Amino acid sequence: MSDVSLQALRRRTFAIVSHPDAGKTTLTEKLLLFGGAIQMAGSVKGRKAARHATSDWMALEKERGISVTSSVMQFPYEGRIVNLLDTPGHADFGEDTYRVLTAVDSALMVIDVAKGVEERTIKLMEVCRLRDTPIMTFINKLDREGKSPIDLLDEVESVLKIQCAPITWPIGMGQRLKGVVHLLTGEVHLYEQGRNFTRQDSTIFPSVDDPALAERIGAAMLQELRDELELVEGASNPFDKDAYLRGEQTPVFFGSAVNNFGVQLLLDFFVEHAPSPKPRATTSREVQPTENKLSGFVFKIQANMDPQHRDRVAFMRVCSGEFKAGMKAFHPRTGKEVKLANALTFMASDREIAESAYPGDVIGIHNHGTISIGDSFTEGEVLGFTGIPNFAPELFRRARLRDPLKLKQLQKGLAQLSEEGATQFFKPLMSNDLILGAVGVLQFDVVAYRLKDEYGVEASFEQVSVATARWVYCDNAKKLEEFRDKNAQNLAVDAAGQLVYLAPTRVNLQLAQERAPEVQFRATREHA
Ligand code: G4P
Repeated sequence: MSDVSLQALRRRTFAIVSHPDAGKTTLTEKLLLFGGAIQMAGSVKGRKAARHATSDWMALEKERGISVTSSVMQFPYEGRIVNLLDTPGHADFGEDTYRVLTAVDSALMVIDVAKGVEERTIKLMEVCRLRDTPIMTFINKLDREGKSPIDLLDEVESVLKIQCAPITWPIGMGQRLKGVVHLLTGEVHLYEQGRNFTRQDSTIFPSVDDPALAERIGAAMLQELRDELELVEGASNPFDKDAYLRGEQTPVFFGSAVNNFGVQLLLDFFVEHAPSPKPRATTSREVQPTENKLSGFVFKIQANMDPQHRDRVAFMRVCSGEFKAGMKAFHPRTGKEVKLANALTFMASDREIAESAYPGDVIGIHNHGTISIGDSFTEGEVLGFTGIPNFAPELFRRARLRDPLKLKQLQKGLAQLSEEGATQFFKPLMSNDLILGAVGVLQFDVVAYRLKDEYGVEASFEQVSVATARWVYCDNAKKLEEFRDKNAQNLAVDAAGQLVYLAPTRVNLQLAQERAPEVQFRATREHA
């Protein structure tokens, strides 16, 4: 087997998805502990503050090093290389989350034992389903009282429409939490209230029949457990790896992230069963991770440490081949060869210069705005990876400039900031307005702040009568031109030059669609 194949097989690239407060940050920290990256704990925690308030976000983003570093965390575990891709916590950054999910091979869903399936869990699950992403589930906060485990499995199955296969099963909960049983090995892992930030080795009994276990948890509790296990065995699905890999079944674990309980059982199972990098679709062919030539796509762009230099880091997921430090790669969108000097890798302990990277890994490429989300890099082949969508924004504002002489800077700033993907920038065909679209209202504040901070432009954002946007496509050039002439009032171009219909109301959109059946109105645009 080639080196690339071997390295690809070792990779596990995933993201954690959850409703805020379910314990994603805490679980991330504990996973990193097992990977030997204790010092990361603080920075992960720091990042959480980002979602609380705009001002916090801004202060934090000033230390952009932190957020760049913790965007991707790589650690070795049991002979595997785990890549954990962070998804932004704030609901306003949903679109970023979606794109991160296009760069992973599997996901881990965290659910709060007391709250069960929450609104954002449902949304994220919908996104995972778009690509049939395999999902493992961790039911967290078992040290607190919550819903009964059986009810929780029912809830996941009925609300999220995915079969559950419990792998561990809790013994009690809240004050009465005694441990978990591993349903596949039969082992019982006792719960001993853990210490933060330290690795916890729990006491293990080989089976529920071990006499010492009865002594530890008491005969009554043991009987209760036996009854429950019988019930679970009869009522739940056995683990079926293929069904998991198809995204139809989720293995379920119980534990308490903050007490580091049940986490290692999850991680052990994860590295063994979670998929290594999968083949990726492009507009021309499927790319296999085992291919020897480098290919990858950019799923995220982030401004870097020094805003004054407008330096940015493009995050590229490697899909095939080997990346070597300093190598030249072909950038199909511009048709240019680019030297990938000083690319970053993201070891959990620190951010460092990449020597090499393999399928499943993410590298950070410094650039000054020449790289966009959705771009690919290859060793010469023209490849366009599909499935990295731009979503139609739901909120629109017109940019208003304090100093009209700064129009050029404003345009440049808006265009560059929208390359990062959180906002989108539209220029109407019939006016000089500059319209910004976003999926969350916080983004307008962030853009205003950054325009001032990084581009020296004072701008504000005011209401504009746009309700929704659709990218417009038509195979027939003549029909498209007719449509363009008739609807110029409502048309704009986005930062990539693509035609967009800006509808003042939903009814207007519906009418426009009915009147031009030959034109497609799409709610997402694939990055070119
Ligand atoms: P998030 O990233 O999904 O938003 O959640 P995060 O890990 O920040 O956890 C949210 C809160 O839940 C935190 O409390 C965290 O300490 C707590 N938590 C996480 N895992 C467990 C667990 O297993 N049991 C219990 N009882 N609590 C847990 P906080 O008060 O918001 O923050 P902090 O002051 O504790 O840091």
